[in-house]
Amino acid sequence: MRVAVYGTGHVGLITCVTMAEIGHEVCGTDADEEKVALLKDGKSPFYEPGLEDLLHKGLDNGRLEFTNDPEEVVADREVLFICVGTPPKASGKANLVAVEEVARDIARHATGPSVVAEKSTVPAGTSARVKRTLARERPDLAEHLNVVSNPEFLREGKAIEDSLTPERILVGADSEEGFAIMRRLYEPITNNGALLIETDIATAELAKHACNAFLAMKISFANALARISERAGADVVKIADVMGSDSRIGRAFLNAGLGYGGYCFPKDLQAFDRLAHQLGYDFALLREVARINEEAVQACHDKIEHALWNLEGKRIALLGLAFKPETDDVRLSPSLSLARKLLADGAHVVGYDPQALPNAKGEVPELEIANDPYEAAEGAHCLVIATDWKEFVELDMARIKSALAYPVIVDGRNIYDPKEMAALGFNYFPTGRNPVH
Ligand code: UGA
Repeated sequence: MRVAVYGTGHVGLITCVTMAEIGHEVCGTDADEEKVALLKDGKSPFYEPGLEDLLHKGLDNGRLEFTNDPEEVVADREVLFICVGTPPKASGKANLVAVEEVARDIARHATGPSVVAEKSTVPAGTSARVKRTLARERPDLAEHLNVVSNPEFLREGKAIEDSLTPERILVGADSEEGFAIMRRLYEPITNNGALLIETDIATAELAKHACNAFLAMKISFANALARISERAGADVVKIADVMGSDSRIGRAFLNAGLGYGGYCFPKDLQAFDRLAHQLGYDFALLREVARINEEAVQACHDKIEHALWNLEGKRIALLGLAFKPETDDVRLSPSLSLARKLLADGAHVVGYDPQALPNAKGEVPELEIANDPYEAAEGAHCLVIATDWKEFVELDMARIKSALAYPVIVDGRNIYDPKEMAALGFNYFPTGRNPVH
């Protein structure tokens, strides 16, 4: 099928390469001309495992192209994905200007029946707005421009896998033509066993908010438990194991630590709260989830302060700057929030990350950058684990210990075994479990 994708950010670019991978002819476009030029050259503007391989493959076999020509993007496309950014406004509401612009663009150049699929995370009601915009601009085609909501559930770092072998695909539509086109589009994936859930449009839009909010709530639940466990002398990891062994609860997303970051959960939660408010419902639980998440960073800061006494003049090695492993994304990274707090207290922070060093330095210029974890540890009074990269689990801890000025580790992601840390002679401060000395 002939597919167009508006926006080549994380969601858009993954959509481009995976749609090409399953056999469609894909054209991607972006308001940022430099990005389009980069993509034409086969270079990804961000790091995501497996992405560049699929990008090269699509460009080489001719199924994938990028352009800035609006007519070329729209011409004879059966499915047009809207994947543009919806950043939060000062009020917390999502800014939908880019979505409206794309809708107008599509209407202006549309040549025949197609599906306009909304993939950006947007407040419920957006697809109805897109529909009205299309109808206003192109009354002649209104009946055949089917708007559907097709929210993505991909995680950064696992985005290719989540797109090609998802647990479920969600399509919200209000016409049989819309459903039929989307069924055909996803056939290569549903043939491999992925569940296709079909709903009305508002339900699909709200379901996306519900999934992200629920996952964020699980994380904050674990973090609140961590605060209590620290006071009660209990072990939050074991509590999560007990909870997780109940199939009604599930173990995933119950890992206490520095909390969630990135461009999805914090922004979606806020937008969902604003949407609920607009609809006349006070979803106070969402604000409490966000408050507990901020508390998680403060708790880690306080633990470092407790371990080092005064922070002023202390050298702190911060391992992991991205908001999670396997990405170079530092947007709303809890690690950088922690770095800012430590710097404000007069500490010297040396950061290391396998992928996110340039982005982190751009966000927090006062951060000293190290080329590897051992260089970061050299002469530091404390080593902090802020992102659970696999590389940090596999460190030579004896070498880390001899590099550090004080044998202190604050583990904001619980990646080490407390007993092993004790045996190695560290003062080890995990999250929500007893420290060892
Ligand atoms: C999230 C959702 O998982 C995707 O399903 C969704 O499609 C996406 O948002 C989106 O709306 O675009 P993502 O933000 O890439 O994906 O990352 P996650 O793997 O969900 O992690 C989010 C944050 O939670 C990370 O900072 C991670 O470190 C943190 N986390 C996760 C915890 O602190 N504890 C956990 O137990 C799990």
